[in-house]
Amino acid sequence: MFNSLRPRVSSIIDSNKTADTKMQEICELLKAEIPHYDWVGFYFKNGDKRELKLGPYAGTPTDHTIIPFGKGICGQVAESNQNFVVPDVQAQDNYIACSITVKAEIVVPLFFNGENIGQIDIDSNTPDPFTKADETFLEFVNFEVAKIL
Ligand code: SME
Repeated sequence: MFNSLRPRVSSIIDSNKTADTKMQEICELLKAEIPHYDWVGFYFKNGDKRELKLGPYAGTPTDHTIIPFGKGICGQVAESNQNFVVPDVQAQDNYIACSITVKAEIVVPLFFNGENIGQIDIDSNTPDPFTKADETFLEFVNFEVAKIL
């Protein structure tokens, strides 16, 4: 599944559209094609502030359009620069709930010129669905997105 999605992500990146439209299409592609992806979105560092701002996403609108560094899974990844896989969100004490249906989450940082400038965030309604293959695929997606920023 992930291998067949890679060229589809790359062709969105190579298309003649704005960066926001490309990221929007990638969110929609991943949500539509990967059964355990129920919400897919990008967060980016908000200027010089130590906070994340919601970018393009696919799924239910969230109230959490601004997330301070250190808060929730996303805010922790902004500081750790590392992938964060959460098999069971209820077991996390530093977690920001977006929807009661969400069981698991994965956040992978997005690097631009070696700097952690944002992340891709996936929510899943399936418990413990993420493997190393998700991490590798999402690292690829972020590498591709970094080319258009
Ligand atoms: N659950 C995230 C907040 C963002 S929503 O999932 C869209 C967190 O704990 O950082």
